[in-house]
Amino acid sequence: MKKVLITGGAGFIGSNFVRYLLEESGGSGVQIVNLDALTYAGSLENLKDLSADAERYTFVHGDICNRDLVRDLLHQHQIDTIVHFAAESHVDRSILSPEPFIQANVIGTFTLLEAARQYWLVEKALPIEEVRFHHVSTDEVYGTLNPDDPAFSETTPYAPNSPYAASKASSDHLARSYNHTYQLPITISNCSNNYGPRQFPEKLIPLIILNALSGKPLPVYGDGQQIRDWLYVTDHCEAIHKIITRGTPGETYNIGGNNQPANLTIVETVCDLLDKLQPQVEPHRNLIKFVTDRPGHDRRYAMNISKIQRELGWQPRYSLTDGLLATVEWILANPDWVAAIQKQREYKTWMDKNYEKR
Ligand code: NAD
Ligand code: DAU
Repeated sequence: MKKVLITGGAGFIGSNFVRYLLEESGGSGVQIVNLDALTYAGSLENLKDLSADAERYTFVHGDICNRDLVRDLLHQHQIDTIVHFAAESHVDRSILSPEPFIQANVIGTFTLLEAARQYWLVEKALPIEEVRFHHVSTDEVYGTLNPDDPAFSETTPYAPNSPYAASKASSDHLARSYNHTYQLPITISNCSNNYGPRQFPEKLIPLIILNALSGKPLPVYGDGQQIRDWLYVTDHCEAIHKIITRGTPGETYNIGGNNQPANLTIVETVCDLLDKLQPQVEPHRNLIKFVTDRPGHDRRYAMNISKIQRELGWQPRYSLTDGLLATVEWILANPDWVAAIQKQREYKTWMDKNYEKR
């Protein structure tokens, strides 16, 4: 029985991963402790139907920076695997207010690494070959690409451009150093842009869907020709599962979707899908509005995923067309989830703060 501590499991990718792991392990094989501070981005709405599975799933409301709490959880549940998602994750917020990113992403990761080192290496609580710390990170640590540059590989030098990316790069370096210095069994994954069910609608795709459904402007930063490498969230979950079960400690794996259209194309595709599923008098594309660009905006990301394909046999299952359709359909089928977020005062404050004067 694996005993897994998932951090940030009330957020977008974390909540999808909790579900993935419970389903993947069938009726047995895993016990999950989900530690989440329930910031604006975390919601128990994302985990609503899981509380009945008390044998295999426990939610703990708390902060990864709380050393005593993390230590107690490792002991109490005899944790052998940590999958670390918890973070401040939105680039625009990191530009307007970087400090929470240093706290959660750098200090939080350090606190978890120290607790794992103490429990697994100093106290030798469990056989070392049975434990694993997996650190979930981002392609943004590599910086930005010119149009003809090759895709990021695991050996591309780090060049983070936003406070968010710099805080994630710091946490990657800490994780790497704990493997190199102490031989803590750590894997790291750097993934491209995720989308899919339960993504907080401050991020491009859910924001565009919700604004379009309410007839609001669809804000496209700058010229809309920036490029991201889009991956459907369950593909990311499957990749992480492969890494924690079959990946090699000390290794980093790049994960990406092989889907790299410009932002404007993404927005137009969502508009066309909504024209079919929720037709209005005017086409949704008429709502598109070009607005002031993000400061320091990375122009292009692309991931070379040959290592994880070759070594772990992973590759994305969803095409962008199927993934976007599934995402729009999920939002249309879950008005309670949408209403719960739109009711949040914090969400409204953010929308005013980020878009009012753009
Ligand atoms: P998210 O913002 O949706 O969720 C983050 C979760 O972490 C929330 O539930 C929040 O409450 C929790 N959290 C934040 N600070 C915490 C703290 N101090 N203690 C405990 N919990 C805390 O983020 P996401 O999009 O699901 O991203 C998850 C992870 O994956 C992050 O580490 C992010 O850097 C990484 N990542 C995200 C993407 C993406 O496209 N979303 C891509 C690559 C990597
Ligand atoms: O690349 C992985 C990263 O992807 C993750 O590490 C981050 O946690 C995640 O937030 C995401 O970062 P991005 O900044 O790429 O995602 P976002 O959805 O904020 O923006 C995607 C692109 O769309 C980006 O080029 C900015 C643009 N954009 C975004 C918003 C919110 C717009 O044009 N308009 C918008 O209103």
